[in-house]
Amino acid sequence: MADETDLPVPGQVRVVTSLTNPTIKEIRALALPKYRRESGLFVTEGMKLVADAVEGNWPIRILVYGAKVANHPVVRRVAQTAHARGGDVLEVSEAVLAKITRRENPQMVVGVFEQRFTDADAIEPGRDDLWVALEGIKDPGNLGTIIRTADAAGAKGVILVGDTVDPFGVEAVRATMGSIFHMLLARLSADAFAAWRKSWPGIVVGTHLSGQEDYRTVDYDKPVLLLMGNEQSGLDDRFAALCDHLVKIPQVGRADSLNLAIATGVMLFEIRRGKLTLS
Ligand SMILES: C[S@@+](CC[C@H](N)C(=O)[O-])C[C@H]1O[C@@H](n2cnc3c(N)ncnc32)[C@H](O)[C@@H]1O
Repeated sequence: MADETDLPVPGQVRVVTSLTNPTIKEIRALALPKYRRESGLFVTEGMKLVADAVEGNWPIRILVYGAKVANHPVVRRVAQTAHARGGDVLEVSEAVLAKITRRENPQMVVGVFEQRFTDADAIEPGRDDLWVALEGIKDPGNLGTIIRTADAAGAKGVILVGDTVDPFGVEAVRATMGSIFHMLLARLSADAFAAWRKSWPGIVVGTHLSGQEDYRTVDYDKPVLLLMGNEQSGLDDRFAALCDHLVKIPQVGRADSLNLAIATGVMLFEIRRGKLTLS
């Protein structure tokens, strides 16, 4: 462990080696949906992701870093910022990090952040805006991958409709690779979504295995709300009825459908075709 003068925020860092420390237990508990719901917090791992989030002003509650990276300039900077914003800063042993992350080779930096949801009623889509709505998505890896892909395609955000997996669960957050901090997220019940959809100023495009339109033939030159069905049962009839277009991605071979995240990626990059250029 570092001595006091080596600490990124001298006098303000708590040095923790006990696996039963209450703060460590609290962070571990955030692996459970119940504690995330009650606390409104979530965990992110990795120096780059935590630093990006802190530098992007995402509210941080706890910063944990391994003693061996205490002198890394990024860690020092992030620790100072986290402390200045009222966050708890902990320097810990590798064993503690392994316990928190449930991994043998843990990341050296972990952040506990406040969850943030956007109010769907505050969404005012501009002409080129693209949003993704996911009906009843259940797989956290799919959700994280979709958030990451939507970010890469320049979408504004993702709307979770009905009963879905938690975007702030550890697996979903890992799969976003940091895009969780750059995408707006909203949540709506099925009824609220049906009502909200009426005010959408552009087109609502649903993807469906019995869609009658080829996804490459639609004019996407307006605000687009892309609606994807769930992994098991696809897009419910009720949601299909809310769409201006029901499109299909033609397939060959014997697979009966594409994985949800892959289908979303194919759609997003078709919708954005012509608007994305190599820099
Ligand atoms: C794994 S599929 C669902 C399969 C489900 N058995 C069904 O009947 O729709 C998950 C979602 O990905 C989208 N999807 C997958 N393959 C597609 C395709 N070829 N064309 C259009 N959408 C597709 C749809 O939104 C679908 O609801």
